[in-house]
Amino acid sequence: MNININTDENLAPIGIFDSGVGGLTVAREIIRQLPNESIVYFGDTARVPYGSKSKGTIIKYSRQIVRFLQTRKVKAIVIACNTASALALDELQNEFELPIIGVVKSGAKTAVANTYTKRIGVIGTEGTIHSQIYTKVIHEYDAEAVVIGRPCPLFVPLVEEGWLHDTVTDEVARRYLSEFDDKNIDSLILGCTHYPLLRSTIKKIMGERVNLINPAYETALNLRELLSANNLTSPLETIADSRMHKFYVSDTPEKFQAFGNSIDLPFYIEKVEQINIEAF
Ligand code: DGL
Repeated sequence: MNININTDENLAPIGIFDSGVGGLTVAREIIRQLPNESIVYFGDTARVPYGSKSKGTIIKYSRQIVRFLQTRKVKAIVIACNTASALALDELQNEFELPIIGVVKSGAKTAVANTYTKRIGVIGTEGTIHSQIYTKVIHEYDAEAVVIGRPCPLFVPLVEEGWLHDTVTDEVARRYLSEFDDKNIDSLILGCTHYPLLRSTIKKIMGERVNLINPAYETALNLRELLSANNLTSPLETIADSRMHKFYVSDTPEKFQAFGNSIDLPFYIEKVEQINIEAF
């Protein structure tokens, strides 16, 4: 039996961060699967997008965010952003003592487990796709897999504009996804936090034969294992009160709050606080 439970550390929240609102799709999955845990979410809305920035910049931003989350006494951190997972995870894991996971490994693992043709597509930001991180990690699981990446930079602003079901979004998606027309993939990783919100549009174009992989689901499972391995699981037996979840942003809170409350989260975001992330 685990004798280490019920400490302040076990009751501490999980830190989750993203460049903005997209990571709420990961937070949503974590709260669904680990309902007894509370979260502290940070969205770097003043400095979004991360997808077009250099590795050095993403490391600097991510480091500041981890320092901020530490002041909130989090027990573990999930980098909910694919770009930051691709470019900064290793550095953060080396630099900080608390357990930190990203989303890339989860997406890669799920894709390898689901493909029959061993031909996997990945869509993401320019930063994520050009880093080739998904190809590298997929090859750790299966060296024979063929990975075809395609950056889709317009998807993020379209999602943030709320154009989830729109003819303009359909047309943009059709152009980007035509990359896969003759590639015979059977799995497509949604390698950016915003893309699960375009799931129905992407599905319509890719068809039933292609499995859409959302790394968020497996990330929540990984987090559960990570907490358990570190004796950090919450001792709460009831669902965490939604007021225990905290939301912070680096720009004005209103847009974030409105977006968050439009994407079917299992609770209502009542309060979002703005902080000066440059101070960390
Ligand atoms: N959250 C980012 C990601 O998952 C997408 C948005 C951005 O470019 O900052 O890669």
